[in-house]
Amino acid sequence: MKASVIICTFAVLILGIALDVKVCIAGITSKYIRRIEASGDMPLDSPHFYVPPGYNAPQQVHLTQGDHEGQAVIVSWVTPLPAPSIVTYGLSKGHYDHIATGSCTYYEYYNYTSGYIHHVTLEKLKSDTTYYYQLGFEASARNFSFITPPEVGPDSPYTFGVIGDLGQTYDSLSTLQHYLNSPGQTVLYVGDLSYADDYPFDNNIRWDTWGRLVESSAAYQPWIWTAGNHEIEFSPAIGEKSTFKSFLHRYSTPYHASGSTSPLFYSIKRASAYIIVLSSYSAFAKYTPQWVWLQAELAKVDRTVTPWLIVLMHCPLYNSNTYHYMEGETFRVEFESWFVNAKVDIIFAGHVHAYERTHRISNVMYNIINKDCTPVPDDSAPVYITIGDGGNIEGIAGVFTEPQPEYSAYREASFGHAILEIKNRTHAYYYWHRNQDGKPAVGDSYWLLNRFHAA
Ligand SMILES: *[C@@H]1O[C@H](CO)[C@@H](O)[C@H](O)[C@H]1NC(C)=O
Ligand SMILES: *[C@@H]1O[C@H](CO)[C@@H](O)[C@H](O)[C@H]1NC(C)=O
Ligand SMILES: *[C@@H]1O[C@H](CO)[C@@H](O)[C@H](O)[C@H]1NC(C)=O
Ligand SMILES: [Fe+2]
Repeated sequence: MKASVIICTFAVLILGIALDVKVCIAGITSKYIRRIEASGDMPLDSPHFYVPPGYNAPQQVHLTQGDHEGQAVIVSWVTPLPAPSIVTYGLSKGHYDHIATGSCTYYEYYNYTSGYIHHVTLEKLKSDTTYYYQLGFEASARNFSFITPPEVGPDSPYTFGVIGDLGQTYDSLSTLQHYLNSPGQTVLYVGDLSYADDYPFDNNIRWDTWGRLVESSAAYQPWIWTAGNHEIEFSPAIGEKSTFKSFLHRYSTPYHASGSTSPLFYSIKRASAYIIVLSSYSAFAKYTPQWVWLQAELAKVDRTVTPWLIVLMHCPLYNSNTYHYMEGETFRVEFESWFVNAKVDIIFAGHVHAYERTHRISNVMYNIINKDCTPVPDDSAPVYITIGDGGNIEGIAGVFTEPQPEYSAYREASFGHAILEIKNRTHAYYYWHRNQDGKPAVGDSYWLLNRFHAA
């Protein structure tokens, strides 16, 4: 929903105490409420959208994983004018003795024409190694670096950041700056990037500013992309009849490597995690490409190699906020039993501009004609995290349903990000951080016990 007005009538939020013995942990609705008003996007001339100096200098630099195992990285950037799609790189600063070439594209959207968008894949990289890379030439050259993940294996610890629905307001900036001070090594991004479509004619200049904003992180570590509803940009009234045009041109994903036929759903392995990215806004009914792919995909996961099974999608399957309430229901009915059978550890979603964590529950008994249609505790079920609280222009989703459902463990209407620290094959520490607090304060935290090795 574009430019939705969020009515922040803050009901008194109370501790929901579950008296029912089936779920014996009380849910918490945090009393913490951030200020109500949505903050606007930062102005186009903000220093956080800084354009690098020099003739045709590369900008909007971002990385994502480039293969299935984590030994390749896709480097993407934009130049205002045509330029070769070349990355030089190496193992020490200033010694760029390797070269990789890729491709260049651009697109038009209504009366906007993009810059030249370059995508280059660096392949056969060593594990757990710092690589230095250079883009551009002579006075316009820019240097960056990234660290490759450890080899895929059951005992490779790794730390993921989790961010959703970021946008480009001062709140977005706060989320990003908090994340930059975190130990996160790779971002699991759960969709809705720039919010350019909240502007008249989907002003795609806001895709460029967003690319420059997140460069401070995304040029130095991979962001794993999930498409949200703000990426659809379906605007037939102004002649834009295709979908995901800007997103697909700007953000590459390694979908071929996982046998997917669409950049919008794919999987990667990274350290001890197997990450499946799904598209809430691509067909998912029985027999559709995404359905067929996901069925085969879940069968491929070997938990003795990658103990941690993580799923990303934009629209949450469990959400007790009034905002986007029940929107994920058809997706849940289609796939929840698969996730439970596969013992998925955790599902991250965005979309709702607030934070929520569930207990391990499932509702797979629901089959229309019986009466068993309520979530019940289920040790095989994932924990569902809604983390669409990056801080975009639409503001906070401040009205939760009351009373807090038994399945909801913690919910709070604040902006922030989360960190998932995978320690070993049995333990992972997850914590959510609200922007109002300094680095050491944790808003919500949870020790995950692996569903395959420790449940
Ligand atoms: C990038 O590295 C090259 C080669 O070492 C160096 O000449 C150049 O000054 C560096 N550029 C920046 C912006 O650091
Ligand atoms: C695109 O069209 C809109 C509406 O007519 C106008 O405000 C904007 O300046 C135009 N942009 C370009 C790049 O021509
Ligand atoms: C796994 O990590 C947890 C938490 O750090 C720790 O308590 C446990 O002993 C570790 N297990 C092994 C086998 O090292
Ligand atoms: Fe969304």
